[in-house]
Amino acid sequence: MTDTRHEPRDADSARPVPFHAVTTYGREQAHLAEALAGGHLRSGGPFTRRASAVLREETGAVEALLTTSCTTALELSALLLDLGPGDTVIVPSFTFSTTALAFARTGAKLLFCDIERETLGVDPASVAALLDDTVRAVVVVHYAGIACDVAGLREVLRDRPDVAVVEDNAHGLFGRWRGEPLGSLGRMATLSFHDTKNIVCGEGGALLLNDPADVARAWVLYEKGTDRKAFLEGQVDKYSWRDTGSSFALSDLLAAFLLGQLEERARIQATRRQVFEAYAAGLAPYAEELGLTLPTVPADREPAWHLFHVLLPTAGTRPVVVERLREHGVQATFHYVPLHDSEGGRRFAARETDCPVTSDVSARLLRLPFHQQLTPADTTRVVDTLVAVLREGAR
Ligand SMILES: Cc1ncc(COP(=O)(O)O)c(C=O)c1O
Repeated sequence: MTDTRHEPRDADSARPVPFHAVTTYGREQAHLAEALAGGHLRSGGPFTRRASAVLREETGAVEALLTTSCTTALELSALLLDLGPGDTVIVPSFTFSTTALAFARTGAKLLFCDIERETLGVDPASVAALLDDTVRAVVVVHYAGIACDVAGLREVLRDRPDVAVVEDNAHGLFGRWRGEPLGSLGRMATLSFHDTKNIVCGEGGALLLNDPADVARAWVLYEKGTDRKAFLEGQVDKYSWRDTGSSFALSDLLAAFLLGQLEERARIQATRRQVFEAYAAGLAPYAEELGLTLPTVPADREPAWHLFHVLLPTAGTRPVVVERLREHGVQATFHYVPLHDSEGGRRFAARETDCPVTSDVSARLLRLPFHQQLTPADTTRVVDTLVAVLREGAR
């Protein structure tokens, strides 16, 4: 009998497996209707308070400020750190532009660090090599929702309590490192509720504060530079301009949608875990033959199941692999283009730095379709198609 399991089947192309899809569960619509009926559409309403409470409960943060995106939460964190010319911030080169841009716009300069191969998170040795007296903060990303080497980073920063750790936790809500929630491991953390994330509200985010000393000023920056929060709490008889800041807050309408998603967090996370495990189990038997590197989850970490990636054996073949997969109805894609090598990165860097692992990983990384609507048949098809395409020689 001929084994046709790993031959791409043209009939399958009729029904593409999309890279991502937004899933709603019903509570979002109910909360939206209630928010509309209540008439409080601006920020700071009942749904904002409820969603913020869930985030605080889940992460242990002392405050959770809902923002219009993870990007604006990062900008708020940069304002809170009071950065300026002469300061530098260490950021990974392997991340989204705004992880770096948010800090650059304060006038601080960036130092791009490399990642380590196990988790694709910041490499503590690279951070150590960049650490000098100008460094005010280190920003970390828990790539794919798997915690970076937090122990290694803490060791490097042991004698530098003046250096703030900011977790860009766009991928990692509900993940854990040694039992501690991602988002609780630094002075502050940011979250994303963009359509492509686990929990979505279209566009949205949050700033989590872990140091009580940051809370009062964060509220002023969040409330357009005013002490409106103190006024609403009856602590002052009128509010006025006090500090820098901007309009960061999420509308209560979107918070209503967000709360509906947060209430389904157990179901969302369980479904995404199944997808991740189906890919990992499906691809493991072929990894050696095809030269694929699969994601590793260190024993002391619980992933947030944000995405599934593989590293192709060589750089340069990915466009062909992506195209062949697309022809067979499987939407796969690349991820971050190294920031240290980008036009913006060069413009805002304090100096040129070398990030060889980032350059290598970025050229070989392929993300597979990942969302809650994928069935076991879909994940099997993605695995089979990838195996077939790579066996055909697109590697
Ligand atoms: C690590 C990281 N940080 C920040 C962002 C920006 O998130 P947002 O679209 O919510 O601003 C992204 C976007 O995907 C991201 O991957």
